[in-house]
Amino acid sequence: MIYLDHAATSWPKPPEVIEAMMDFLERAGGNPGRSGHRLSIKAGRVVYNARESVATLFNATDPLRIIFTLNATHAINLGLRGLLRPGDHVVTSGIEHNAVMRPLRDLEKNGILLSVIPCACDGSLDPGDVARAIQPSTRMVAITHASNVMGTILPVAEIADAAHAQGALLLGDAAQTAGILPVDMQSMGIDLLAFTGHKWLQGPPGVGGLILGERICTQEMAPLVRGGTGSRSEFEVQPEECPDKYESGTLNGPGIAGLGAGVEWVLKQGVAAIRAHEIELTRTLLEGIQSIPGITIYGPENIENRTSIISFTAKGWRTSEIGLRLDDDHGILSRVGLHCAPAAHRTIGSFPEGTVRFALGATTTMEEVRTAIDAVAQILEQ
Ligand SMILES: Cc1ncc(COP(=O)(O)O)c(C=O)c1O
Repeated sequence: MIYLDHAATSWPKPPEVIEAMMDFLERAGGNPGRSGHRLSIKAGRVVYNARESVATLFNATDPLRIIFTLNATHAINLGLRGLLRPGDHVVTSGIEHNAVMRPLRDLEKNGILLSVIPCACDGSLDPGDVARAIQPSTRMVAITHASNVMGTILPVAEIADAAHAQGALLLGDAAQTAGILPVDMQSMGIDLLAFTGHKWLQGPPGVGGLILGERICTQEMAPLVRGGTGSRSEFEVQPEECPDKYESGTLNGPGIAGLGAGVEWVLKQGVAAIRAHEIELTRTLLEGIQSIPGITIYGPENIENRTSIISFTAKGWRTSEIGLRLDDDHGILSRVGLHCAPAAHRTIGSFPEGTVRFALGATTTMEEVRTAIDAVAQILEQ
């Protein structure tokens, strides 16, 4: 079996991740931040260590401003719903995942004003277009760091500059880049960074986070959920301290332990080394697939402007049929369809059929890439 669906979730997980999760359950099984006994303290330490690892990876200023969530979707919803009020103007791109687009469309019904800036047909976005859309009432620019459909990398740092020049905040969705591209909150000017644990950070499903930069005033940001935090228990109202204000209820301890180990794994390999490996594989895959007659590949031509995602269609073929044959006849696992990002497919002209998506991971080998190229060629010859 060849797993080429890392953009959906990474697999297999590093052994360190599985060990950390088992270790949490076997040896640190208390409720973090609740009781004062040794197992609770041990669990609290695992959670705090994970905060520190995440802070290191993203150059976040304060580990206590990392809010653990279920996934990136939950983190994005927290950032958007926590800060946006009726009358606020928000700018986003024309290639967003529904994790950004759906909450924004819903908030539009509650009185926010939304500008969706169109991207070029390779998914690229002119930061000047974003700058021109920002108005005095713009509260936030919410933007993906890279497309989950074409792998196109967006110029987040330049967009953040444009947002800050007008007093707006920048929410960055790093679901498709955390762990494979440098994501530095401070040098890129990201005020709210949403990440997910189970993709390129190598962690398990069920854990992600939102990191609050220094521009975020937590008194102005409402929690999505209120409840027990293990702190300030004498009060019936939500505490104001971070992260407790946004982390009501028992945390996903084993998941956070796995996330921490995944982030440590990424730090140990080095993001630059992971990126170099993926660029080499992506170049081979692009060249190989491009040479097959009848194929259209989407996304930027320059490999530096894309991640290790390759989306394609083949003339006369349903994408579902290609995906099925890849799986059934060649043991190659891809993802076909719209990838929860209809706006991106409208942009590149593949809506509503979608594309076949290969997403290479840190553990993908060159041999697997070559097998995938041969498999596509064989399927299309039939
Ligand atoms: C760009 C992007 N944003 C957000 C998400 C949502 O991530 P999760 O499903 O972990 O919430 C995804 C998932 O595919 C994604 O690709």
